[in-house]
Amino acid sequence: MNAALAHPHMISLAAGFTDNESLPVKEARQLLNGILNSPRAGQAALQYGTTLGDATLRRLTAEHMQKLDGVKLPSKVFSPDRMIITSGSQQLLYMVTEATCDAGDIVIVEDPTYFVYASILQSHGIQARGVRLERDGLNLAELEKTFERLKRSGELKRVKLLYLVSYYQNPTGVTTSFEKKGAALALLKKYERAAGHPIYLLEDGAYRELRFTGEDVKSALTISGASERVIFAGTYSKPFATGTRVGFGILPGAVFTAVARIKGNHDFGSSNLLQQLLSRALATGMYDKHRLALRKRYADKARVMKGAMEQHFPPQVEWWEPEGGLYFWARLPKSLASGPKSKLFKAALNNSVLYVPGAVCYADDPTRRKPDHEMRISFGGASEKNIRAGIARLGAVLKKLI
Ligand SMILES: Cc1ncc(COP(=O)(O)O)c(C=O)c1O
Repeated sequence: MNAALAHPHMISLAAGFTDNESLPVKEARQLLNGILNSPRAGQAALQYGTTLGDATLRRLTAEHMQKLDGVKLPSKVFSPDRMIITSGSQQLLYMVTEATCDAGDIVIVEDPTYFVYASILQSHGIQARGVRLERDGLNLAELEKTFERLKRSGELKRVKLLYLVSYYQNPTGVTTSFEKKGAALALLKKYERAAGHPIYLLEDGAYRELRFTGEDVKSALTISGASERVIFAGTYSKPFATGTRVGFGILPGAVFTAVARIKGNHDFGSSNLLQQLLSRALATGMYDKHRLALRKRYADKARVMKGAMEQHFPPQVEWWEPEGGLYFWARLPKSLASGPKSKLFKAALNNSVLYVPGAVCYADDPTRRKPDHEMRISFGGASEKNIRAGIARLGAVLKKLI
């Protein structure tokens, strides 16, 4: 960000920003006018809310999730009573981790994973174990081997969570198949007996609603027996307006109580005004309309980025095509380092283009070295013109160095 500010011609394919032009300015103005035109609604929205969040938004969110997952009403798992509204899903990830883990505990993460989550672990002195990610989610054999190794070393009792960014993952764009979610949950249940406590599956669905092709995959909440072991983190940031930072969580009872206490200490409730805004967006159908428009927008931008990579990247560079989200994950020849101190990164900077070095996206796991030959490139924030120009610049640098 500093580099981008210092160099106005810099094209950032690094930041995970959403598309600026499609942010719902007109719709938000209309919704806010609706709230503030009525003294009663206006006063309620400008007053403190409650720690758990606005009751209407919790109900609408539960219904929205039920619809996405094709679950019939009423449902115990998708009940508003298990729902908490947060300041972005980021706050939920933080609180869940604080509620379930102590310093020295272990969280199993995807290799690579969402780097801000890795930072939460690091700041709490929590250890990470990375499990390799494949085209359709975690390598299950490696997950089982990790559990076996932890069992042999007597560390199983320290394992508290498995964290999966299951839809159009940040950073790889990979979506975890429903079968793999089920198999991962079964493994958690198998090993928690020896661990002596619950091991939760923390499913981060931040990008779920940014699907532009393919079929939606049901959340882990719909797996039978998931109600007491799956924690779902969701958000309205990505599919509606990133600046509102309204997120939510669906939690099993014991974790719900602990998280609600932490939330009380953090802020005793997220911004009431922004919750009312989202409530109205959902209730009026504006939210769903906007989601559909976004689909086309991101499909176009992803197509532009893919076309530019095919045109400009040397053939040694590989990538998987995402079905949603904001990212491509490019894998370079192993001998070509991409880290912040690498020739490649410096050459990219000199050519006024930024990417996220792959190594940043690997949590600290003392049992393996961090790969350093990958890059995350985002089509979210940059305009189509800048996507083309940025990829052309990156391609020229890659061709020179390979
Ligand atoms: C994987 C993932 N989870 C969660 C978040 C947090 O989003 P928010 O707090 O805006 O809901 C992000 C943001 O980029 C993300 O990439």
